[in-house]
Amino acid sequence: MTSKALTVPAVALGTWAWGDSGEAGEGYFGSRLSESGLREVVEKAQSNGFTLWDTAVAYGMGRSETVLARALTGRDRSEYQLSTKFTPQIAGDGDDPVADMLEQSLERMGTDYVDLYWMHNPADVARWTPLLIPLLESGKIKHVGVSNHNMAQIALADQILGAAGFRVEAVQNHYSLLYRGSERAGILEYCHEHDVRFFSYMVLEQGALTGRYDPANPLPEGSSRAAVYNGILPRLQALTDRMGAIGENHGASAADVATAWAIAKGTTPIIGVTKAGHIDGLVRARGIELAEQEIAELQALADTADVDTRGWWEQEM
Ligand SMILES: NC(=O)c1ccc[n+]([C@@H]2O[C@H](COP(=O)([O-])OP(=O)(O)OC[C@H]3O[C@@H](n4cnc5c(N)ncnc54)[C@H](OP(=O)(O)O)[C@@H]3O)[C@@H](O)[C@H]2O)c1
Repeated sequence: MTSKALTVPAVALGTWAWGDSGEAGEGYFGSRLSESGLREVVEKAQSNGFTLWDTAVAYGMGRSETVLARALTGRDRSEYQLSTKFTPQIAGDGDDPVADMLEQSLERMGTDYVDLYWMHNPADVARWTPLLIPLLESGKIKHVGVSNHNMAQIALADQILGAAGFRVEAVQNHYSLLYRGSERAGILEYCHEHDVRFFSYMVLEQGALTGRYDPANPLPEGSSRAAVYNGILPRLQALTDRMGAIGENHGASAADVATAWAIAKGTTPIIGVTKAGHIDGLVRARGIELAEQEIAELQALADTADVDTRGWWEQEM
């Protein structure tokens, strides 16, 4: 049985971009991130109560986990929570690929347990989910969540874990103003009704909803995110302008409004912070209460933009 309830801060921190090579323009995000800069991010986040760090082996094939662990060095393990994932597509061919992938993550992160362990996607729910049970029993993973699963796949994973006295405690899906498939599919409502934490990822659409990037100042050339988003930036302008204006009323930025929106929808945003200054934004976002009318207006503008930002790895919900 899971011993302690899963408790999470208002916002979790994402580290996909931390898996980039450190060279400008390279990697998925094309961000140049230095170890000293990321230590500053960790320092500021931790001291503001943002202590849950989301990563995955798949982010830079281990690099994100390694870099995150280095940035957390020197802290007591009880001060932060680690969230990482089993990715079926890169499973090894041993007897227990889930245990093997977890073992490698633990080694890279210099720890003997993961607070929140995810099935990264539903490639084969019936095959992979049961392998989480012995890891829960041994305490190597404290809580289990499923990512990119639709309603039926969440229910199947929950049923498999349930037979051993465990449960799906969290869901992690793409959820932003521009991409509300999990809401339409009833997954948000299911989570709220069943005390399952819904973590929204790509709330900022990898930078496209921060107000920082526009057609004159696009996402870093050569990066994967630039290929996905630069072409649609003109269609997002009305939305990001309005987010900026609403932000100003709250002493905040467009990005903070995106995060506040995800909190207002009853979810835990996982924000892919790359700079210490982003933490100030999360502190502001945590304190913003958007009016119903502001939420409705933003969603209407997002619908008018009429863009499809579904990731290449995602299924329709
Ligand atoms: N389970 C899954 O399949 C899955 C898929 C995708 C993501 N995720 C998780 O969700 C996390 C978030 O997604 P993401 O990192 O892809 O994208 P995101 O959070 O939508 O956007 C991250 C980008 O936005 C900018 N940014 C971050 N915080 C900011 C702030 N407070 N103010 C202004 N700009 C800010 C940064 O760009 P600059 O560096 O250019 O400033 C950063 O690279 C990931 O890191 C990962 O942990 C999970």
